[in-house]
Amino acid sequence: MGVSHFGYSPLARSCGALGGAHKALYAKGLTAYGEDMIISDTPAVLRTRAWADYALIDSGHGRKLERYGSYLVVRPEPQCFWAPRYPELWEDADAVFDPAGDEDEGRWSFTRRPDEQWSLGWQQVKFYGRFTNFRHLAFFPEQAANWAWQAQALKTRPGARVLNLFGYTGVASLVAAAAGAKVTHVDASKKSVAYARDNAVLSGMAEAPIRWIVEDARKYVQREVKRGSKYEGIILDPPKYGRGPTGEVWRLFEDLPEMVHLCAQLLSDEAAFLLLNAYAARISGPALSGIVAEALGQQHGGRIDYGELTLVEDSKPPKGLKPSDIAPREIGLSFFARWQA
Ligand SMILES: C[S@@+](CC[C@H](N)C(=O)[O-])C[C@H]1O[C@@H](n2cnc3c(N)ncnc32)[C@H](O)[C@@H]1O
Repeated sequence: MGVSHFGYSPLARSCGALGGAHKALYAKGLTAYGEDMIISDTPAVLRTRAWADYALIDSGHGRKLERYGSYLVVRPEPQCFWAPRYPELWEDADAVFDPAGDEDEGRWSFTRRPDEQWSLGWQQVKFYGRFTNFRHLAFFPEQAANWAWQAQALKTRPGARVLNLFGYTGVASLVAAAAGAKVTHVDASKKSVAYARDNAVLSGMAEAPIRWIVEDARKYVQREVKRGSKYEGIILDPPKYGRGPTGEVWRLFEDLPEMVHLCAQLLSDEAAFLLLNAYAARISGPALSGIVAEALGQQHGGRIDYGELTLVEDSKPPKGLKPSDIAPREIGLSFFARWQA
């Protein structure tokens, strides 16, 4: 019997009676579920490396040094328990975030007066960097791996309807629209949606087919299920805790399974993908994969992959060393599970 990556699921029950085809899948590191769905038995590491407007330059002593356009930024990162490689580079930082507790709050200190916002880009999509009160720069660079995947998944699906839940400042929505999708972007925060619209204008996509919706994500999805709406792609990047516009409480560990079940009902017969991402420390790729497999149930074939999103250091080797002399260091930032038809 092959080893399933989640023994508590319906998979475990089917393991004992594996047919030849299922055994062959196990041999390839895949698990069969229902008639047609296959699930990877090995987690993937999706690595984001430096691009023109972003780089993880160095890390260590519980912090990371990053470049966002022309700004050198230092932010807390407890998992970096090693020593920085290039301490001299840290002295040039323009902005340092000092945390004020375990959550994301804290304050920035600056060595030069920062712009309120500045233009950044990833491929053809443009967006503003901003120093937010929550240690972020108004987008999450490690998500580049997910953006690339979703753009690829949409390539062969012109006009696909994509729902982006908890859409924040809209980069994933813009990437989907740039790949030819009709997008529905939902977020509880008026301000985040306003920033997302600014990013659409900056990208030259003000007229792109994107519906910008300020709403509680769960309420919106419940209503879409009642209306019988359908989508070919769904992206969810929920926070650990959040509030809808009229105080609706979102708790990842209580609400995610029901949410993914509702999303499964919104997938059309021609659906291409569902991408689930989460940052919470107690979550994992296999846990997200289990939720997606259970929600998509026996209705869908396709394949589920899961794992971790990382940022890889873009260290330049000191004089006399080749890049291959330097061990690549990377930081795990979030977990994902993704289903593709
Ligand atoms: C920052 S993003 C997600 C990024 C990442 N997953 C994290 O945890 O930081 C979270 C977004 O979810 C939105 N949000 C929080 N609660 C929500 C709710 N109940 N309905 C819709 N959007 C919500 C927030 O406004 C925010 O833009």
